Amino acid sequence: MNKDPLGDVYLSADQIQARVQELGKQISAAYRGKELVLVGILKGSFVFMADLVRNIEIPHSMDFMAISSYEGIEGSPEAVKILKDLDESITGKHVLIVEDIIDTGLTLGYLIRHLEARNPEGINICTLLDRSIRRIVPLPINFTGFDIPDVFVVGYGMDYRQLYRNLTSLHLCDIKV
Ligand code: IMP
Ligand code: MG
Repeated sequence: MNKDPLGDVYLSADQIQARVQELGKQISAAYRGKELVLVGILKGSFVFMADLVRNIEIPHSMDFMAISSYEGIEGSPEAVKILKDLDESITGKHVLIVEDIIDTGLTLGYLIRHLEARNPEGINICTLLDRSIRRIVPLPINFTGFDIPDVFVVGYGMDYRQLYRNLTSLHLCDIKV
């Protein structure tokens, strides 16, 4: 039996909720009068997305994509597969991609190039967590919840082997045990 890898609270539910409120206000101000579609990247972003949209006071639509990146061959663009595509067209719309955490940026870098071919008015990113120290591909991240160091976290939608997504706080997770 492996030891439970779940560690201490890294960001409390209250800290997260306060920051999500601020992000909602910033997004509402930035996109007022524009046709906005939020694109959540499944599965990790679903909890953040649900809280974020309830803090955005301007009209907007939402859509979801699921992509898979294969570890081990990261870096090759073919390694990113679209498992679930958008339901609606993004042509002429302001797209805001909603992510749980951005690390190297390889997955999202590929996705953005792919979505740009559909001629949206613009593509920006809102991520709850930015592990910017690990970035390889530069990305247009306009809204960041928290910048985090090189620690692995779970909870608030984020998983380790599909577990812990339900936790309301973010916890450190020791993935070596
Ligand atoms: P990258 O930016 O392409 O390197 O990959 C980022 C993706 O890896 C995120 O969207 C998460 O799905 C996953 N990921 C990276 N760091 C963590 C973490 O600390 N906890 C849970 N998932 C993570
Ligand atoms: Mg993700």
